[in-house]
Amino acid sequence: MSVSTPPPLPVSRLGHRLSAEPVITQLMRQALQTPGLLSLAAGFTDNAVLPVEMVEAAVARLRADSPSREFLQYGSTHGRPGLRAATAAWLATYAGEEALALDPSQVLIGNGSQQSLYMSAQLFCDPGDIVLVEPPSYFVFLELLKGLGLEARSLPVTSEGRIDLLAFETALQTWQKSGEIRRVKMLYFMGTYGNPSSRCWPEEDKVGLAEVLSRREFVLPVIEDMAYRELWFERPWPARSVLSLPEWRNLPALYAGTFTKPFSTGLKVGYVASHCSEWVEKLARIKGHQDFGSTNFNQAIVEEVLRSGDFGRHLERIRPSYRRKMEALDAGLREAGIEELGWHWQKPEGGLLLWAEAPDDWDTSLEGDFYRMCLEEGVYYVPGDLCFGEGKPRNAVRLSFGVLEEAQLHEAARRFGAAARRYASSVRT
Ligand SMILES: Cc1ncc(COP(=O)(O)O)c(C=O)c1O
Repeated sequence: MSVSTPPPLPVSRLGHRLSAEPVITQLMRQALQTPGLLSLAAGFTDNAVLPVEMVEAAVARLRADSPSREFLQYGSTHGRPGLRAATAAWLATYAGEEALALDPSQVLIGNGSQQSLYMSAQLFCDPGDIVLVEPPSYFVFLELLKGLGLEARSLPVTSEGRIDLLAFETALQTWQKSGEIRRVKMLYFMGTYGNPSSRCWPEEDKVGLAEVLSRREFVLPVIEDMAYRELWFERPWPARSVLSLPEWRNLPALYAGTFTKPFSTGLKVGYVASHCSEWVEKLARIKGHQDFGSTNFNQAIVEEVLRSGDFGRHLERIRPSYRRKMEALDAGLREAGIEELGWHWQKPEGGLLLWAEAPDDWDTSLEGDFYRMCLEEGVYYVPGDLCFGEGKPRNAVRLSFGVLEEAQLHEAARRFGAAARRYASSVRT
């Protein structure tokens, strides 16, 4: 009996661009499906410190305090009013942000912060447009841009990885002359413990960026992603966000934050905030089309956790734990001897990620021998080339210390080192 193949689906241009599965989906599946494989790839948090008791207690209080059971009802598109207010109040607890004067109506709650990143790209960009990103950048964001038919273009950076403001202004001038500026629609950067580099932006760079944009009279929507801001190890990163810097007051800037990484990834509650109410309102309209509101129950839990002060207590508990894990990975990599092979990295001061670079001629990409050897040794990572819009150097890796416990991180580093030695000797021969 012959089985006829169904005709291809008559999908849109977006549908056509989705021919490849997102790398994040592949990596997450690989972790779940391969027993014994130690993942330094997944950007998950640590199950051991997830706030089970706090969530239980919050639900119990919700039951006791809300006889109407509204928390199991649909919520609203913008998010729970109490959570929007508590989020604005939380942001104002950071040093230098006390005078934030953010109205709760300027906060939008989303399904993680990821949803608002996507909706912002939809709001400002059409296929063929350009989004400026720092190199390296958050690879899921880069894939999202690709899916929407957008080009990610790297900001010029100095040898220390800071934005090169002079070169940026020159690039803007060139694009203004050539007309290419009409395609430049958004700029995205991570102010604290960026993914993957764990780099933080000094305040002067944010101020400088605003000054360049103002001088060039270029109205460019800018997103400051602060997904890891709460996860500092020793002290909070001192720079104020775009929300509080006077230079940004009249420029369209959006702060993207989340309660996933610092509290519970599984609840998937995130938010954006901006003094540009029009931006927030337009996102809410797209959200109205998408889901007309994120999960009300999860929002109610986060609201309760913020109200009770449990959020702060949870952060105090997890910061030392992630710091120990970072130290374990760092020590493990040193003991594995990869520095002698030419690898180098800086210890992050917060976040969940360590960015390590091999000598220029190494190939750490998904298709390369090093990745295969790592899988054979039972460990894997996010290849660094996925984290660049263009250029794509192939000699770096993103290692996450979020998921594994300390002993496992040592073992993962040992396996990584074993693969590195095999690779080094295979290249030499
Ligand atoms: C830099 C960055 N921004 C945003 C997100 C999205 O996080 P969520 O949607 O869980 O809030 C992530 C998740 O890994 C991230 O690393």
